[in-house]
Amino acid sequence: MCGIVGIIGKDNSRDVLLNGLKKLEYRGYDSAGIYVNDQNGHDSLVKTQGRIADLEAKLTPAVQGEMGIGHTRWATHGEPSDINAHPHVSADGRFYLVHNGVINNYAQLRDQYLQGVQLVSQTDTEVVVQLIAYFAKTDQLSGREAFRKTLTLLDGSYAFLLVDRTEPDKLFVAKNKSPLLVGVGDGFNVVCSDAMAMLDQTKDFIELHDGEMVTITQDKINIETIAGKAVQRAPYHVDMSVSDTEKGPYPFYMLKEINEQPTVMRRLAQTYLDEKGQPQIAPELLAALKQADRLYILAAGTSYHAGLVAKSMFEKLAQLPTEVSLASEFGYNTPLLAKKPFFLFLSQSGETADSRQVLVKVKQWGYPSLTMTNVPGSTLSREATYTLLLKAGPEIAVASTKAYTAQIALQAILAKALGETRQLVTAQKFDIRKQLGLVANGMQTLIDEHHRFDQLAKTYLGTTSNAFYIGRGYDYPVSLEAALKLKEISYVQAEGFAGAELKHGTISLIEKGTPVIAIITDKRVASHTRSNVQEVRARGAHVLTIAMHAVAQQSDQVVLADVNPLLSALLSVVPAQLLAYYTSLNRGYDVDKPRNLAKAVTVE
Ligand code: F6R
Repeated sequence: MCGIVGIIGKDNSRDVLLNGLKKLEYRGYDSAGIYVNDQNGHDSLVKTQGRIADLEAKLTPAVQGEMGIGHTRWATHGEPSDINAHPHVSADGRFYLVHNGVINNYAQLRDQYLQGVQLVSQTDTEVVVQLIAYFAKTDQLSGREAFRKTLTLLDGSYAFLLVDRTEPDKLFVAKNKSPLLVGVGDGFNVVCSDAMAMLDQTKDFIELHDGEMVTITQDKINIETIAGKAVQRAPYHVDMSVSDTEKGPYPFYMLKEINEQPTVMRRLAQTYLDEKGQPQIAPELLAALKQADRLYILAAGTSYHAGLVAKSMFEKLAQLPTEVSLASEFGYNTPLLAKKPFFLFLSQSGETADSRQVLVKVKQWGYPSLTMTNVPGSTLSREATYTLLLKAGPEIAVASTKAYTAQIALQAILAKALGETRQLVTAQKFDIRKQLGLVANGMQTLIDEHHRFDQLAKTYLGTTSNAFYIGRGYDYPVSLEAALKLKEISYVQAEGFAGAELKHGTISLIEKGTPVIAIITDKRVASHTRSNVQEVRARGAHVLTIAMHAVAQQSDQVVLADVNPLLSALLSVVPAQLLAYYTSLNRGYDVDKPRNLAKAVTVE
């Protein structure tokens, strides 16, 4: 939800900002802007509706500076437009501000303090920059103190970068709930929402905490709380190379990330299993889980679907009763909790606000929690009692693929580890190392055939405006994920259904040519799903079947390698990912940046 970058101390600031924004485009891409200042009286503000490429096209050679700030936007307040794009500037032309987050009380502050100020945009951010100018003038405060005073009045989430034109040798920064890092350079410093944006500049970053503000010059970084208490924090080193964030030979990140899945499976096995295949999970985490009488898995979107898949693993391998909930709903409709609950947060980004609001409550209640995330140092990781990293490498396409499969595999490892500590035979017999190897090979076979899915997508999903995925048992959560993948990037209205449920209403939507994709891996219910296939076929549906070898029939179009049923989702999702990818591609859409979406959803 919006990406922000800043730099001070480099004469090619404009290029550093542009490159950084390109890396952050996954956080929002409906408008973009930069402000640069050469610290000698020359400055420029350029902003536009559209993508970073549109911004780049608007920059003249004169737009240069030694310092600057930039923004790529996912609109919250005010439609995407040139005016609503950031940076926002105060009416007196002194302050420039970029913002990631939402200010809840902006209208109240506007009415209280800014009656005499002509606002030009519909954004909450403009109110903030005008307030800073207002306090600087009326209270005769320095830019920094006016910023501080404004921060004390705000209710909401923010990562701010502020430039005071009268002090262009400084960048002012503040954070609350939205992620923000300061990158430490040699003779320069940078600021960014995500380390990926500045990896070509530095690999040493200081994470900022909520309620902190920072004053940055080209060789100093002064962190303090908003209340004025000095903070010392050492940088950490990011172990990621620029090439991890590049597309390489792939036309889209999504295809690259689908293709990386076998490697991610093997990496998880190497990281979390010893040579005998025994899980290597922190003993304190296992002890805390062992005490729990119920596991609550909380997540949003695709991560929620990964939680649904894992419920059976925790219950079957570790005999731990498990509930999976949408984090956004759990916050308001909290169920009656068990006596000793343990909370597991699944989040690729580690920044999802819907999940975080539950974690904040869990901490207040005093219960233990674990975050499984792909992003070390992310908010959910910092705030939970324990963290397990997904090790999937940067996931840049908005549609999640390798993080989903990593979440499932890592939960399987954790369930096995817990079952082992409870000396449960099912867990002891579950050879996870071998199974992850089979999964990796099975994924590779599908990926090697990826062009086949181009043809299948054309045949089954070519021009349709709707589609259904069905599955029972272990295949049901995969049908939900498969439908989400298709709709988010190809704009085909798709629904995932428990096979049996179709006849309770939805079958009325089936007509001649309606695509129905059946996932059949679960032996217990394969014949029932096949009956559902017959029912929809009899009503004209165009059916594609994806079946596991052990239950496959000759007529099945896609056959998956045999793996333990608890892990079948890791394979059955891959054809769905490829079908979604090719449907989007064939319709001419930007696969990696579907409309209206952003990757890290930092608003509730
Ligand atoms: C869909 C997708 C989203 C995310 C959801 C949660 O492909 O990526 O549904 O899964 O926004 O995000 P994280 O996992 O970062 O908490």
